[in-house]
Amino acid sequence: MLIAQLSDTHISAPGHKTCGVADMAANLRRCVDSINNQDPRPDLVLLSGDVTHSATRIETEHAAEILSALEVPLFVVPGNHDDRKILAEVFGPMRCPTTQTGFMDYVIEGYPLRIIGLDTLNTGQHSGQISPERLDWLKEQLHTKSDLPVVLFAHHPPLKLGVPETDQEEFCGAAHLGELVAAHPNIERFLCGHIHLHTNTGWHGTIVTTCPSIGMQLTLDLKQRNPSQFLLSEPAYLLHHWTADEVLITHPIQLSEMDGPFDFTS
Ligand SMILES: [Fe+2]
Ligand SMILES: [Fe+2]
Repeated sequence: MLIAQLSDTHISAPGHKTCGVADMAANLRRCVDSINNQDPRPDLVLLSGDVTHSATRIETEHAAEILSALEVPLFVVPGNHDDRKILAEVFGPMRCPTTQTGFMDYVIEGYPLRIIGLDTLNTGQHSGQISPERLDWLKEQLHTKSDLPVVLFAHHPPLKLGVPETDQEEFCGAAHLGELVAAHPNIERFLCGHIHLHTNTGWHGTIVTTCPSIGMQLTLDLKQRNPSQFLLSEPAYLLHHWTADEVLITHPIQLSEMDGPFDFTS
């Protein structure tokens, strides 16, 4: 099984660059083209939030129009730069399944891995959250088919990652989520976005992986002396490969021009 993960697309209105400099629409088109041309082609695409930059309908429709060129199924969870209601209306229930309580919490079945999307949007805040009621929902899903490997998928990483995006405002409910994760060793991975960097961190018996943005890379400042800034980067996404040996291997895909391939023996 092959999963492509896109994150932090931060799409602006047509004809506008994000923050005046980042052509995220062009970056997203290149990523869509790359995913469609992967061989083997991914089984599905997960978009882990911050689909838009300013949470407007016009931006959301712009993102949906670009993503409509994907030739594999797409699933989306919201980020802090998105409007949950607009996202659900524009992308529809196939790509943004929503529970009766209005959150985009859902399970993707029918693949060797069970994928559980979690809506961590805390409206009006940058940081993530998961309420006790929704942890109960997750517990119920994890108890179902508990013999199958699981991948969790959300916008906000549930732990501090040494950057202001996760360290200044804590993820509300992270401790209880951590207890739940620790009790389910079949959770292979927790896929996130939000920090615009690719990282891998052990957490309660699983690995939290953050996906890079498709073109706005966080300037890495481990002393956190400066407010967050970004660098214009080449479009990037992750490919998660669940192999026949039942291990999940993550390949960062960077869409830059590279010479080759060359033989090791020459
Ligand atoms: Fe973002
Ligand atoms: Fe974010």
